[in-house]
Amino acid sequence: MLYTANMIRLFNTMISQIGCHMNKCYTTNGVGLFRSCFHSSAVTQIKQLGVVGAGQMGIGIALVGAKVAQLPVKIFDSNPEQIKKGLKFVDELIGKDVSKDRITEEEGNSTKKRITTVTDISELSDVDFVIEAVSENVDLKRKIFENLDKVLNKKSILATNTSSISITKIAAATKRPEKVIGMHFMNPVPVMKLVEIIPGLTTSDETLNITKKLATSMGKTCTQSQDVPGFIANRLLMPYINEAIIVLEQGIATREDIDTTMKLGTNTPMGPLTLADFIGLDTCLAIMKVLHNELGEKYRPAILLQKYVDAGLLGKKKGEGFYKY
Ligand SMILES: NC(=O)c1ccc[n+]([C@@H]2O[C@H](COP(=O)([O-])OP(=O)(O)OC[C@H]3O[C@@H](n4cnc5c(N)ncnc54)[C@H](O)[C@@H]3O)[C@@H](O)[C@H]2O)c1
Repeated sequence: MLYTANMIRLFNTMISQIGCHMNKCYTTNGVGLFRSCFHSSAVTQIKQLGVVGAGQMGIGIALVGAKVAQLPVKIFDSNPEQIKKGLKFVDELIGKDVSKDRITEEEGNSTKKRITTVTDISELSDVDFVIEAVSENVDLKRKIFENLDKVLNKKSILATNTSSISITKIAAATKRPEKVIGMHFMNPVPVMKLVEIIPGLTTSDETLNITKKLATSMGKTCTQSQDVPGFIANRLLMPYINEAIIVLEQGIATREDIDTTMKLGTNTPMGPLTLADFIGLDTCLAIMKVLHNELGEKYRPAILLQKYVDAGLLGKKKGEGFYKY
């Protein structure tokens, strides 16, 4: 994965959108104001946070956990290279915060100290709450959850950052479905309870409440959705991105004209093709495949999207997608 200046900008945008509701203070400059707003005592049950996957989402979640919620965060990824790149990205973001006087050097250093990394899943045994952010693949996520279930304390909560996959399907790989929940990171964070198939067998209210408190302590607003493919955000966003790719494929307009039309026309920070590059074209395709399988023909992925993924052009994280980075 390539972390570039643009990605830092996008991530800072994510951070800057965080509002601190406790004190009704909003910031456009990162974490500075959060120091006084949030800290780990807001989530007394959670003493140690775990993050699985050191990709663009996992690193972002870990940083918000360490910086805003001020929790110790342990990141697990099976690929040491990803961890190395992720930590470099954390250094860059914190360095930028310090250079812009958003936080002091000491605060930057203590944030960094709160982040540790491991390459063996068994080393997550002491975490109270895990947020999984590995690639959007149901078999991979189910395997990870099966292993986490074996390794973690019986009281620990398992959240998945999946964009589209059924929480119920992921939870079924564990023996603690009442402690499994969906937590889709952006701002707001929609949380999803797994579907109650057998009466009483669903995400418990306790799990839901702890998850909402954690999200709030990370500076996020919570919304709630049913466990349906794509939940709220990707049910709406992905068909829009997919249609933009079809418009490009059919030669209706250039990539620049598609993006400019939607960026200026709908007052969004970026057009759909740029956004797809930032999300990752492999992730977009995986989400569209889930929507297509579960919801029908209307959601068929664009042929051009499949071609970009086949060619290894996965977007910003690989240096090239619809645009070069
Ligand atoms: N990209 C977005 O904008 C976005 C937004 C919200 C949610 N999500 C979801 O977050 C998740 C991660 O997306 P991403 O964009 O960070 O992907 P990514 O490709 O950047 O990162 C995936 C990470 O998973 C790791 N991984 C793969 N197999 C593993 C294993 N067996 N054990 C441990 N780690 C493993 C990889 O090494 C990589 O670091 C997906 O479920 C995605 O749908 C993505």
